[in-house]
Amino acid sequence: MPKDRLMDAEALRGEECSQKDDGLRPKSLNEYIGQSALKQVLGIAVEAALGRAEALDHVLLYGPPGLGKTTMAMVLAKELGVRCRITSAPALERPRDIVGLLVNLQPREVLFIDEIHRLTRVAEELLYPAMEDRRIDLTVGRGGTARTRALELPPFTLVGATTRAGALSSPLRDRFGLIQRLGFYGLDDLKLIVQRTSDLLHLSLTEEACLEVSRRCRGTPRIANRLLRRIRDFAAVRGSVLLIEPRLVDEALQLHHVDTLGLDQSDRRLLEVLNNNHGGGPVGLETLAAALSEDSTTLESVVEPFLLQIGFIQRTPRGRILTEAGRNHLLSTKP
Ligand code: ADE
Repeated sequence: MPKDRLMDAEALRGEECSQKDDGLRPKSLNEYIGQSALKQVLGIAVEAALGRAEALDHVLLYGPPGLGKTTMAMVLAKELGVRCRITSAPALERPRDIVGLLVNLQPREVLFIDEIHRLTRVAEELLYPAMEDRRIDLTVGRGGTARTRALELPPFTLVGATTRAGALSSPLRDRFGLIQRLGFYGLDDLKLIVQRTSDLLHLSLTEEACLEVSRRCRGTPRIANRLLRRIRDFAAVRGSVLLIEPRLVDEALQLHHVDTLGLDQSDRRLLEVLNNNHGGGPVGLETLAAALSEDSTTLESVVEPFLLQIGFIQRTPRGRILTEAGRNHLLSTKP
């Protein structure tokens, strides 16, 4: 995958960290645009937990990257009036990493673990009693004198996020009281998000320009915000651009090889390999990944979901196929 990809997994993760305090994230359920079913379910759960003065039940959020899983965890903590501790599974390699986090939690706090499908077996097994009985079983001593000591924890809420719900072990999945999917955003919600971010970035976009960004962000708020920053740079360098019109949006996004539907070079390469090398498929995931020099899980959880959503590819038991719509788009937007 090219390093400058605006939406790759690494960039998205980096963005997630750097965005932690960028001021763009909504701070309440009311401010959070879209995902109405999710907000309704979580709103009720939060209100009930507050009413009972209890910790919110553990929550698993899954879906493609950039749709607001981390943001939702932070919003939940705010709504509950507690702190949100943020970490990700790859940072919890040693047992003491997760033990350290758990024993330092204050009552009813939110612990957010991103990429929770990547937890080690040991970390997972430490989490089971923590989630179920608010207890961690520590092994003290070694060899013949080793003993387990149970340590009590305060009530807390684990919010886990994953792009690959299917990769979670079922004992872990079963310990979440709320399991919710985040889907791609529709144009109306994206327009509101683009408008909101433009205001926060002190940018003036015409309504048509907002719509253009919304059309070209792959249904993903994080990408919309990222594109807006690139548009801001472009407008600044152009000089004296007071009102951003669709033409400027188009020029800025063309510079970054983002096409009229928001597809970038990685998406196009995938469509091209399917079309040019395999006559439209079916092609197995591993074959596609090898042809694209891409990791198959990234391909499956980061690149493919949007192409599936817009009906450009299909998953069949024999592999991926390029649809008529996908082929038409490829041919009509040939560079
Ligand atoms: N910025 C990014 N995602 C958002 C959302 N869902 N609501 C409001 N602002 C956002």
